[in-house]
Amino acid sequence: MTAWDIALTVLIGIWVFVPALLPNPAAVLFGGGRPIDSGRTWNGKRILGDGKTWRGFFGGGFAGVAIGLIQIGIAYLIGSSDLWGFGPFWSNVGILFTLSFGAVLGDMGGSLIKRRMGKERGAEVPILDQYDFLIGAFLLTALFYPNWIYSTYIGGWSILALVVLLLVTYILHRVVNIIGYKAGVKNEPW
Ligand code: CTP
Ligand code: MG
Repeated sequence: MTAWDIALTVLIGIWVFVPALLPNPAAVLFGGGRPIDSGRTWNGKRILGDGKTWRGFFGGGFAGVAIGLIQIGIAYLIGSSDLWGFGPFWSNVGILFTLSFGAVLGDMGGSLIKRRMGKERGAEVPILDQYDFLIGAFLLTALFYPNWIYSTYIGGWSILALVVLLLVTYILHRVVNIIGYKAGVKNEPW
């Protein structure tokens, strides 16, 4: 492994994670309407809250799949055999779905935990707010494509891709939410 190979491994680890990074900001844009929990409560507190809607779930999920298809298209045009890290042809679209819907499911899991903690919709819970979707994307993808997760983020130097991804995700999450807040599309800057 040359330094260039390692840098490429890190770059690919971030590139292939874009379908999991897009769903949250897309959910802010598409969200609204009927909440997923339909207003239901559990021990006197909302199950998920009004911040988790069906439109946000599917709008966010399919936005992630759509950007991934564009990324795979770009890799095809350039003639990459492994589609720039998205795996062999028959699994790559599946990987898009597990990354993207894993992200929206993880975000829902985060809200479930926040409501159980007694935090209202929009309350800030550091770390959970920034990483719930990432954990969801990793878990769902690891369930269906464990070898892909291993070779992209765990085995050998690729662990460095995971470390950089955790850093990039944190910074991106903060920056994008502050922009969304200033632009008036998001209620809180976190
Ligand atoms: N959103 C949505 N449906 C989703 C996820 C997000 O409609 N499945 C929209 C909601 O308008 C939400 C906004 O995106 O308010 C920001 O998402 P997030 O920060 O995850 O929700 P919060 O409102 O902060 O609620 P929570 O405390 O549950 O995280
Ligand atoms: Mg929030």
